[in-house]
Amino acid sequence: MTQHPRLMSPLKLRDHTLRNRIVFGAHTANMSDQGMPGPRFGKYLVERALGGAAMVVAEPVPVHRTGVLTRGNFLHSDDAVIPAFRTITDEVKDAGAVIIQQLYHIGAHGDSDLSFAPHWSPSGGPSYHDSDGSHAMTGTEVEVLLEAHVAAAVRAKAAGFQGVEVWAAYHSLLDQFWTPWSNQRSDQWGGALEGRTRFSRELIERVRRACGEDFVVGLAVSYSEAYEVTLGAEALCEILSLHDRTGHVDYVTVGAGSYLEFESIIPPFTHGEKLTTPLTAQLKGVLKHAVVTSEAGVRTPENGEAIIASGLADLVSIVRGQIADPHLARKVAEGRASDVRGCISCNQMCWGRRSRDYWISCLINPSAGREFEWGGDRFSPAVMPRDVLVVGAGPAGLEAARVAAERGHRVEIVEASGVVGGQFRLAGMQPRRGQILELMDWYERQFDQLGVRLRLNTFLEGEEVAGHGAEVVVVATGSLPDETGFQRWVPAEASLPGIEAGGVWSPEAVLRREARLGDAVVVYDEGGNWRGVGTAWALAEQGKRVTIVTPEAFVGKELARTAADGVVRRRMGSLGVRMLAEHRLVRWHGNGVTVRSFLTGEEEVIAASALVMATTNRAFDVLPEVIPGKVMHRVGDCAAPRLAAYAFHEGRKVGMGI
Ligand SMILES: Cc1cc2nc3c(=O)[nH]c(=O)nc-3n(C[C@H](O)[C@H](O)[C@H](O)COP(=O)(O)O)c2cc1C
Ligand code: SF4
Repeated sequence: MTQHPRLMSPLKLRDHTLRNRIVFGAHTANMSDQGMPGPRFGKYLVERALGGAAMVVAEPVPVHRTGVLTRGNFLHSDDAVIPAFRTITDEVKDAGAVIIQQLYHIGAHGDSDLSFAPHWSPSGGPSYHDSDGSHAMTGTEVEVLLEAHVAAAVRAKAAGFQGVEVWAAYHSLLDQFWTPWSNQRSDQWGGALEGRTRFSRELIERVRRACGEDFVVGLAVSYSEAYEVTLGAEALCEILSLHDRTGHVDYVTVGAGSYLEFESIIPPFTHGEKLTTPLTAQLKGVLKHAVVTSEAGVRTPENGEAIIASGLADLVSIVRGQIADPHLARKVAEGRASDVRGCISCNQMCWGRRSRDYWISCLINPSAGREFEWGGDRFSPAVMPRDVLVVGAGPAGLEAARVAAERGHRVEIVEASGVVGGQFRLAGMQPRRGQILELMDWYERQFDQLGVRLRLNTFLEGEEVAGHGAEVVVVATGSLPDETGFQRWVPAEASLPGIEAGGVWSPEAVLRREARLGDAVVVYDEGGNWRGVGTAWALAEQGKRVTIVTPEAFVGKELARTAADGVVRRRMGSLGVRMLAEHRLVRWHGNGVTVRSFLTGEEEVIAASALVMATTNRAFDVLPEVIPGKVMHRVGDCAAPRLAAYAFHEGRKVGMGI
């Protein structure tokens, strides 16, 4: 029996009954193949439908050549996509979900490198995607875009979609029309509210006429309070109630952020949760026909249940939560919510890949995007169950052990330290990263259920591994910090002059609380990611005087792909952290460090009681390459030190292959 009765309760939407309140909301998975929907995209959606989502909103198709945004966008204005989408929509519907397609045009914020077209907008405002400007549409062009939306909706219907979601979120084209700051037109498409909403109202009328009464029409909106020029909650309520009067809009889905405030659209762990309920609650009070969906940071079944039970929204969109665990809804329905693998809000492999124009995946669920070749987040039983020994319980070892055990192997995992998780657990000690620790608890619960034998505080020598009864050995012994002080930006210097003075530590030693730091700490960060930045932030939160020095052009460069870098820089700024970019270390003095600017060559001595060096780790692997009679695998950092995503990936792959 489910402990989430409201979340699991059905809801009527036009002629459809949604089996529960969980939507797999629209997101650009960027998986098209030459603009065509293929197996990668299809099986990605089908997996979430099989996993129990009530409604799946397929990634947006641009409605016109002037609104193309990504390499993986589906072909716009082309009927060739219809049969390819049909295969996918059939399968999603067979799995019990309603399938909708989002339609988008991003107005001023297109990507010229992909569209090679001027981007059309109401008044020719600047792009917030890059530094390009846009084209102020003529009246004829406005009409072209209206018809392009209708044609895309008709195409979606022909492809088997049961509805479309019209995109007015994040300061997209429709939002640009609505917002006085970006709509300075003096014709019928601008001016007072009536004029500014004419485009969207006309569009919805025409879609309804063209696609019929049984077709679901949703409207995606968002709100951001970061800039006063974007629409606030009150303005949105007024606009949406105007649209609601015709009864053509079946649902309104509310996201957070805007192109002007990108970091809140896909809120990383630096933000809170349930970001849009203040507006959805207000909308519930004003909308008579449309039901309301809350997006952004819903993440867990508990949050979803709380939102529905307290009447803050009718539906919840859980995007990253279902990327991370495609079977979230089914597990909740089966009363197994504690088996849901919770998204850790890192954005590293979902938005972090999309922002660099790759197809998306997930740090903790590497099957995301590979369902068509790996068979989804469900594993086929082993042909012959074997005894498997996993050495090391970091991400690679944990995942290898779990997947091997799920497939029926008899698994023992040994770990030298007293806890599971390796360096990844230490990341969970950084500010606001407790979701990582929850993931570690999840692994331990899974091990209990699967009968995996976990031995902590156990360091196995080569002979012990050789003498162990396992037929298969997975070496996942991780990596260790480099202790020479080598800087990869200064390749000719093998070590940092003065390191022998002591007081130089790794981020791991800091997070394990082994480092004796004093009050003033310099963090030298070559990675530009959480290992260095998160450690500097943690130290600042503890009240230390922190200077972060990086050879990169700005602090947190690698976090930019996750949209979390600005947030953490602001947080560190407010804590008084000094940030020094494009500098290297010259010498450690025991009580300070000399740094040199790459730009001017000028040197400066920064007084410090400790230096923390976040530089590239070295693989740790002391087991024999081959042990007679055993099949050996090496996964994760012991093969090559990398970000955690690749350790989870290799762990799963090996677990699936044994
Ligand atoms: C990789 C990625 C791409 C996204 N692309 C879109 C998009 O094309 N259209 C849209 O309306 N929302 C998009 N979103 C935003 C999601 O719909 C959702 O609002 C956001 O992920 C926050 O919800 P969550 O916390 O459940 O993930 C995207 C999200 C992700 C992770
Ligand atoms: S990559 Fe991170 S944020 Fe994205 S779905 Fe996976 S766990 Fe969640």
